[in-house]
Amino acid sequence: MTRYQGTSLSSKFSGARSRLYMQSLLAAGLMIPAFACSGPAADEEAVGSLGAELRGGHGHGHGHGHGHGHGHGHHDCDEPDSLPNNHLVRNAGGKAATYSTDGIVDLTSAFATPQGSNGRSCVTCHAPGDGWGLTAARAQRLFDDTDGLHPLFNIKDADQPGIADVSTVEARRASFSMLLQGKFVRTRAVPATAEFECIDADDPLGFGSCAKIHNFRKAMATANFRSVPVSWDGGNTQATLALGLARQARSNVTGAQQGDPATPETIDAIVAFEMNLSHAQLVVPGVGRLDAGGANGGPEAFSQQPLVQGRFDLYDAWIDHGNPKRRQIARGQELFNNGDLNGKRCSGCHNAANSGENVNGTLFDVGASRASLAKSDMAIYTFRNLTTGEVRASTDIGRALRSGLWSDMDRFKTPTLRGLAARPPYFHNGIAETLHDVVDHYEEELGFDFTEQQEDDLVAFLNAL
Ligand code: HEC
Ligand code: HEC
Repeated sequence: MTRYQGTSLSSKFSGARSRLYMQSLLAAGLMIPAFACSGPAADEEAVGSLGAELRGGHGHGHGHGHGHGHGHGHHDCDEPDSLPNNHLVRNAGGKAATYSTDGIVDLTSAFATPQGSNGRSCVTCHAPGDGWGLTAARAQRLFDDTDGLHPLFNIKDADQPGIADVSTVEARRASFSMLLQGKFVRTRAVPATAEFECIDADDPLGFGSCAKIHNFRKAMATANFRSVPVSWDGGNTQATLALGLARQARSNVTGAQQGDPATPETIDAIVAFEMNLSHAQLVVPGVGRLDAGGANGGPEAFSQQPLVQGRFDLYDAWIDHGNPKRRQIARGQELFNNGDLNGKRCSGCHNAANSGENVNGTLFDVGASRASLAKSDMAIYTFRNLTTGEVRASTDIGRALRSGLWSDMDRFKTPTLRGLAARPPYFHNGIAETLHDVVDHYEEELGFDFTEQQEDDLVAFLNAL
């Protein structure tokens, strides 16, 4: 295992970070001496939930009991500066891993460094241990570890952005109810040129309105990039993937990180870091390594996968394997490729070989925004087509809120399907808690039809991606 021997993460960053962090505590009148491991919250953020996984939960954080005068040049919270390629991280379905073509996953890179003034970096919301996204479980853990004072819990991302009550732990718990589910607020007006108008807004959180549409979306995985669209609604899409990622990074630094504009060198470093990352499941209990026995699962094989239209062929070698669990994954792969009882195919949209993105970058409506599926805390907006008078309700119209096109209603980016097991819940709004719920959703909302055995096979395949 190669490790960067340079400046340690703590000495390089935690001074500034802890200072900010302490300032925020002091500002809130909430300085708590126990938060003193050079700003444990900030350190934890630097490695994401991976830190906790690597440490095996050995009491990192506010259990250390240093006084808050603890110096910044040193700390004993053994944070990794990097991860070796293919390092295993546990999740509900087995173990996933990241492979970087840099040879190592460098957690001192610009991606993991706060670029702004509020202590957040890209890994705050794109954590290596959460499949480079943010799970609800991690958000809750960070809240519990810091009483909701971790930089993740910025008032910008409260249920009522900018105005929520964040004065006490209980107020914060209530005000960040969506973020505690791993969802971030996006606020936009209907474009002036839109083919439709908003005629009703019903927001249980009391904030969204027709003038200010308010959507909560999950962070996306910042790995396995191949297709051109960037962001759930394609809002950062440019002529090339690299340009889109650069645009996204620039706006994040000045937005979510509340920083000054980043230099082109910093943006280039962030984009290169992201583009070099592959993340996938690598081990499944009872199945073993997903790159063994002729199979090509896992992140390292994916790093070689170009963006081409084609079937998933990762598990072809397992179709007659002696291990029934390996055979099941191979059967699930064929169901995904070839279709259900009626010939409806998952691969019709998820058509990029061994990736599941859409090769043409097409955004689709899979019914995740249907008003009938709204949870009790989700807003429902109603729109009228200015030409036809047609009315439709939606929790999030996705692409249409950018383009103003009626035909874009409820359309979202076709995301990578690799590394799914590490980053529940699923869909842009997290309405599917498990991979089984995803398959149920396609059956109930899009007319797919699988036998129970086929459902289990398909889930076993999705879990092995
Ligand atoms: C405060 C949380 C937060 C921070 C910090 C953050 N992101 Fe994100 N990121 C999100 C959310 C939420 C989404 C999905 C939002 C959407 O598309 O509407 C997202 C989406 C993305 C996407 C789109 C992925 C895709 O498949 O299209 C990229 C790329 C990305 N982020 C990169 C970054 C980078 C680079 C940084 C640091 C410069 C960063 N993010 C910092 C929350 C965050
Ligand atoms: C009509 C095109 C289309 C079809 C058919 C389709 N998908 Fe999807 N899939 C998408 C899009 C677009 C998204 C993102 C939708 C959203 O979040 O609103 C998605 C999301 C997903 C996700 C969640 C990914 C995440 O990161 O949250 C999974 C898993 C998935 N699809 C699996 C499947 C399976 C399995 C099938 C077949 C049963 C299937 N898809 C059929 C287009 C499609």
